Amino acid sequence: MATGITGREQLSEDAITAHVPHRDPHPLPSGLSEPFLDYDNRITKAEALEAIPIVFAARQKQAWNDVQLKPNSFALCDNLAGLSALARSDHKARLIYLDPPYNTGMGFQSRSLQHAYDDNRSTAGYVEFMRRRLILMRECLADDGSIYIHIGHQMLGHLKVVMDDVFGPRNFRNIISRRKCSSKNFTSNSYANIHDYLLFYTKSDDYLWNQPGQKPSDDWINKEYTKVDARGRYKLVPVHAPGTRNGETGRPWKGMNPPPGKHWQYAPSKLDELDADGQIYWSKTGNPRRKVYLGDDKLVPYTDQWDCFRDAHHQSIGITGYPTEKNIDMLRMIVGASSNPGDLVVDPFCGSGTTLAAADDLGRRFIGMDESFTAASATLNRLRFGVKPMGDYVDRPKVDQSFDLFQDLPVATQSPQQATERDFEFLVDRELLASFGEQINDLADL
Ligand SMILES: C[S@@+](CC[C@H](N)C(=O)[O-])C[C@H]1O[C@@H](n2cnc3c(N)ncnc32)[C@H](O)[C@@H]1O
Repeated sequence: MATGITGREQLSEDAITAHVPHRDPHPLPSGLSEPFLDYDNRITKAEALEAIPIVFAARQKQAWNDVQLKPNSFALCDNLAGLSALARSDHKARLIYLDPPYNTGMGFQSRSLQHAYDDNRSTAGYVEFMRRRLILMRECLADDGSIYIHIGHQMLGHLKVVMDDVFGPRNFRNIISRRKCSSKNFTSNSYANIHDYLLFYTKSDDYLWNQPGQKPSDDWINKEYTKVDARGRYKLVPVHAPGTRNGETGRPWKGMNPPPGKHWQYAPSKLDELDADGQIYWSKTGNPRRKVYLGDDKLVPYTDQWDCFRDAHHQSIGITGYPTEKNIDMLRMIVGASSNPGDLVVDPFCGSGTTLAAADDLGRRFIGMDESFTAASATLNRLRFGVKPMGDYVDRPKVDQSFDLFQDLPVATQSPQQATERDFEFLVDRELLASFGEQINDLADL
């Protein structure tokens, strides 16, 4: 097995060039047909799949290359190693959600002021960092699987090009705008920045999709279902549809032909039944339309604009206190839409484990990865004890408590909504662990 990269990856610091192959005057390496971004140290897809860093998993006391990542596990590791291990395993993810650093140029701390992670790569370095991992993620995904990248405005355009290159433009589904906050970021010389984005791709045309919907708002109901009778609110829809037909639906009903170029939606006998039952509305000029009543179970399909999944914005919302922690209801919606119970959901940048908790709540299996000790601590605390309003500002656990979690592992988890106990596997990359400093050196002996 190739182990082409040892230690840290060589990522580019240099400028980016955009290539559009069919307009490029210079011959390009074969197989490149989509537009792509070029820079120094851009390795090929084949190299990205071969180049596996040599790192060690402390618990197994063996090279990470031989580690088996199992469902219902969290790995404290560089996800390049974790994804390589997963790509080589038999486990395939139905859904991968990732919320990587946005390349903001900032460092992030938890609410209890523990360092969480840095987010300050060069543009080309960031693109290649993500591209290598996305190539591996494609290998980890089932053929009918989906991938969602949560990202800010900073790298949205770059990652769209990378995703078209790695997954293919045919497999692009949506760019979703998610409202992340109120307009508090208002500045006087530009528009207030209140959204971030999700790039939704699938591995193929034939992918799992459970149409998600939300309960309609009163405003929406008042606009859509404008009429009321003894049965309740209803809206009017045509009883005809485009296209002519020679069969029953093309014949006259009550002496009327369907309008030119159209046919009745139902056979005349069915239209008679609906009329007798009061479900046909006749206009003053004698035009029939069908009444569609608002059912109690009416759900409105989500669009690509999500306004209802803001991150924690008031004191009573339960969070871990990890920086950039995402809204768990949004994750539950994504998990429900793009996986089924029992499926494997993977989050390679899992931070405080929001995706893992959502997957667990909905009866999916999960694998999470993160290289931050603070993230590992937040994830394990969440899976074990759930979350508290406003995270670690309220009833803050002693900083040392996270270390006990590691000593006790593997632990039986109790997620917020599921009180069943089961094993939860925890893996740790020993080299990475050593880099966390003396205070946690004893963990290397796990
Ligand atoms: C935006 S945060 C994710 C937050 C998460 N969605 C949540 O709800 O808590 C990005 C995470 O990626 C992690 N990360 C960055 N580079 C990584 C790498 N190479 N391998 C694993 N994790 C990485 C950071 O430590 C950080 O926790």
